[in-house]
Amino acid sequence: MGSFFFVFFFIISFLNSYPFSVSGASFSEFIYPNFTASHFSFVDNNGAFLFSRNGTFKASIYNPETQETNFYLCVIHVESNTIIWSANRDSPITSSGEMDLTMAGISVTDSDGDFKWSTPQLQATVLALTLTDMGNLVLLDQSNGSLWESFHYPTDTILIGQRLLIGANLSSAVSGSNLSTGDYRFVVTGSDALLQWHQQKYWQLSMDTKAYINLNYVVDYMAINETGLYLFGRNGSVVVILLNLSTTSFRIAKLGISGQFSVSSFSSGKWVQEFVGPIDGCQIPTSCHKMGLCSASSTSNAPECSCPSGFHSASQNISGCLPNNLSFLCQLHSNSSDISYMKLGSGMEYFSLIFSQPEIYGVNYSVCQDLCSGNCACLGIFYENSSGSCYVLENELGSVILSNTVEDDLQGYIKVLVGPTTDSNGGNGDSKSFPTAAIVLLPFTGIFLLAALGFLWWKRWKFNESEERKLGHQNSFDSDDLDDFRIPGLPQKYNYKELELATESFKTQIGAGGFGAVYKGTLPDKTVVAVKKITNPSNQGKKEFCTEIAVIGNIHHVNLVKLRGFCAHGRQRFLVYEYMDRGSLDRPLFGNGPALEWQERFDIALGTARGLAYLHGGCEHKIIHCDVKPENILLHDHFQAKISDFGLSKLLTPEQSSLFTTMRGTRGYLAPEWLTNSAISEKTDVYSFGMVLLELVRGRKNCSIRSNSHTSNEINSGGANNSSSSVIGLFYFPLFALEMHEQGRYLELADPRLEGRVSNKEVEKLVRIALCCVHEEPALRPSMATVVGMLEGGLPLPQPRVESLIFLRFYGRRFTEASMVDEENRRSDDQLMLYQEENGTRSSIVTTGSDTCFSFMSSQQISGPR
Ligand SMILES: *[C@@H]1O[C@H](CO)[C@@H](O)[C@H](O)[C@H]1NC(C)=O
Ligand SMILES: *[C@@H]1O[C@H](CO)[C@@H](O)[C@H](O)[C@H]1NC(C)=O
Ligand SMILES: *[C@@H]1O[C@H](CO)[C@@H](O)[C@H](O)[C@H]1NC(C)=O
Ligand SMILES: *[C@@H]1O[C@H](CO)[C@@H](O)[C@H](O)[C@H]1NC(C)=O
Ligand SMILES: *[C@@H]1O[C@H](CO)[C@@H](O)[C@H](O)[C@H]1NC(C)=O
Ligand SMILES: *[C@@H]1O[C@H](CO)[C@@H](O)[C@H](O)[C@H]1NC(C)=O
Ligand SMILES: *[C@@H]1O[C@H](CO)[C@@H](O)[C@H](O)[C@H]1NC(C)=O
Ligand SMILES: *[C@@H]1O[C@H](CO)[C@@H](O)[C@H](O)[C@H]1NC(C)=O
Ligand SMILES: *[C@@H]1O[C@H](CO)[C@@H](O)[C@H](O)[C@H]1NC(C)=O
Ligand SMILES: *[C@@H]1O[C@H](CO)[C@@H](O)[C@H](O)[C@H]1NC(C)=O
Ligand SMILES: *[C@@H]1O[C@H](CO)[C@@H](O)[C@H](O)[C@H]1NC(C)=O
Repeated sequence: MGSFFFVFFFIISFLNSYPFSVSGASFSEFIYPNFTASHFSFVDNNGAFLFSRNGTFKASIYNPETQETNFYLCVIHVESNTIIWSANRDSPITSSGEMDLTMAGISVTDSDGDFKWSTPQLQATVLALTLTDMGNLVLLDQSNGSLWESFHYPTDTILIGQRLLIGANLSSAVSGSNLSTGDYRFVVTGSDALLQWHQQKYWQLSMDTKAYINLNYVVDYMAINETGLYLFGRNGSVVVILLNLSTTSFRIAKLGISGQFSVSSFSSGKWVQEFVGPIDGCQIPTSCHKMGLCSASSTSNAPECSCPSGFHSASQNISGCLPNNLSFLCQLHSNSSDISYMKLGSGMEYFSLIFSQPEIYGVNYSVCQDLCSGNCACLGIFYENSSGSCYVLENELGSVILSNTVEDDLQGYIKVLVGPTTDSNGGNGDSKSFPTAAIVLLPFTGIFLLAALGFLWWKRWKFNESEERKLGHQNSFDSDDLDDFRIPGLPQKYNYKELELATESFKTQIGAGGFGAVYKGTLPDKTVVAVKKITNPSNQGKKEFCTEIAVIGNIHHVNLVKLRGFCAHGRQRFLVYEYMDRGSLDRPLFGNGPALEWQERFDIALGTARGLAYLHGGCEHKIIHCDVKPENILLHDHFQAKISDFGLSKLLTPEQSSLFTTMRGTRGYLAPEWLTNSAISEKTDVYSFGMVLLELVRGRKNCSIRSNSHTSNEINSGGANNSSSSVIGLFYFPLFALEMHEQGRYLELADPRLEGRVSNKEVEKLVRIALCCVHEEPALRPSMATVVGMLEGGLPLPQPRVESLIFLRFYGRRFTEASMVDEENRRSDDQLMLYQEENGTRSSIVTTGSDTCFSFMSSQQISGPR
């Protein structure tokens, strides 16, 4: 051992100062264009052709483990012989395949000249390739600037000094010898780091007991250093999530082939695992393979696998369990009578359930089942009786968990396909009545073959479908296609030509927001409509789209904007709404026109509350709006409020809806539970409604810059000696409202433009209701139905709970900081742009400025010493 270290340090000190040579070949810190390497040509050094300055890392054409067929261009940690990064992970080469460095970058080709991998097109020509002391492979330009770095393209590992940015991910390798991209992902989001398998979440860092959380900021990136793992916000200046680890000089964070994320340090010649998630083996989606039943073992750490009753072990143990006599398949166009649901035994759970929201809740079992039957990606459901929650298992089935904590309230069902000869009694979820299918008679191998064949069909169908999407076929949603999906209550379908005609080729844009642009149009029957084009529709299939549309289209209430129809053209999606001639609430409320009278404000508040109450409880499907704000409250004749954009969040890609969330956050309507991990519920809308109510009272954005002109009469009327009013700063109205409420000085909260045309009592009513709506604890917020009762006067006015409101102090500051960052990286669609066609001329309505917050001042500062 001693001599080993002696030799090692000898080499290191040697490497430190000179270009060095190993086994006859000569190496240095840099290599220069028109350089070629293969494993074969550097075989004496096991493929390595480039070392970092002190020899900690090497770049090599390397075959992991004992196999001799797959060679990869890798960065390797020398001492532990661990692969840190690989270039051509999905396209291995043979031992004589080559890596070429040219002035255009790096490329990897196989021995027969087949292209396998290359760096993307570069901004300038390459001077040299180097491997830094941190393990970063960098292409340098003529002035030693970085053109490309491996740190920006992580595979399954990150090192000290490397950043994993928000939205980026690590993906596991298939096995130790096959570095191909596997099925597990480690993803950094705006508030967390999570693990996913086929888009199903199975772990998140913030729920780990070792994580220290400060969720007051949005995450920018994740990094590890000598003392821990960090999720940083505000460009590295604040820590959002922290994992304290012992101090060490070298550590890595890696997503392993098993699907576990781990942090390990290397010292004294061995790896020490310092952190791992998930710890519970049964939480790993494939712990017992597809439909295997995982239970914690009483004797060992490894989980034990068996099959749920009604299932038998697949012939190849790697494939988990198969249902007896039936298959898992979902065939395209299969009649719903072919689908049956196999009930799992009680006490069973699924790995993703604790991390997911129900697809829908407050429904009975048959609605849940229909949802699954209508969705080919749905492979099973879990239904919770007490809440009527319906969880849908999509994309791929993993293992089931045997749990002794789950009550019988939760029941799992797996979708199975009954043989083609049966007809009637499928589809009622009764596992006892499996119809006798033709395949029953087949020997076991036959069933397996059939299942495999079906799987191939299904794969092929999926493949074709995705190909079709890639190619963006413009005709893929024509009428015969649609006939396959007869969904009751589907509103009018328009074709693209009709909409093009109605909007005169999308000539008049009347609005734009997170969902996309809105155009004014006139249908042949002369009705004026608003046509909303969804910019980034999710990849959901046409049928899922239709299902959503049918739900939205069936909601009719005087305070909700009516969906008249839709159009799906290729990948594009359009929604056709009735047109509201007075635009959205933000314009009269925050604009420079004549101020809204108190009675008008009250009517708008009541209408909005009624609309939301209906969405939450009045219709068959409970709908959480998720984006209640003045821009989404449209006005009709006589200030009748109509809520728009409900039910839309499901039509967006996940990325876009998270962007949308961020946008809402900066605008101040976002309830605290969006940023913590608590469940989003209808109470989330109640919070946003409360914020809107406060804005109705004051006539300005809750979060705004305090300007001189407004200050003196608006805020300081009660304050003592601030008459100089030279201080300009940020004003967070909800906090001020809380303080004025505590002192009973409600009139100071009213919009000064009302010039006293409102009484203390009237303002008190709205302010007290608003404050109750923004309680931090969702359970303490009233339901929308209760809010309606309180506004109408049938229910007594509530008393706000101050202890559930002090969070506003911190929350206000957080928004201001978030908006500040936002201000810097403003995206074009981040700010709501509104155009209104008035008398034929287009004028842009300014909504900026007032909601832009640069700093935070407490209300004490604003209202002066008391
Ligand atoms: C590399 O080869 C290319 C084409 O063969 C040549 O144009 C270029 O000058 C060479 N670069 C160096 C640095 O030798
Ligand atoms: C090599 O350099 C890195 C970064 O400076 C340092 O952390 C590491 O300890 C060095 N390794 C050796 C063997 O000196
Ligand atoms: C680039 O870096 C190398 C090594 O540090 C040095 O020798 C060379 O002079 C540098 N070139 C420029 C243009 O700075
Ligand atoms: C992971 O990152 C890759 C490359 O940036 C991207 O193509 C892929 O969509 C990401 N996957 C997930 C699940 O975020
Ligand atoms: C590596 O894994 C991928 C994905 O599972 C597979 O397609 C490929 O054939 C495997 N390669 C080898 C050499 O086993
Ligand atoms: C690691 O990062 C944290 C957070 O930025 C910092 O406080 C700590 O000092 C860093 N540790 C080292 C050894 O640099
Ligand atoms: C983020 O920090 C880096 C260095 O720490 C700095 O170069 C960059 O300008 C900062 N970006 C912003 C938006 O503040
Ligand atoms: C993390 O460790 C540092 C240094 O040991 C300590 O000062 C800090 O309080 C710890 N943080 C938490 C949240 O445990
Ligand atoms: C699983 O199958 C492999 C061969 O395919 C066999 O070696 C192994 O023993 C099997 N394991 C069990 C638990 O049956
Ligand atoms: C299903 O298959 C099992 C054997 O796997 C057999 O014992 C049972 O009778 C079959 N059930 C029906 C309804 O055919
Ligand atoms: C579905 O069932 C109906 C009658 O039950 C039949 O006419 C039709 O062909 C079936 N469709 C498919 C795709 O099997």
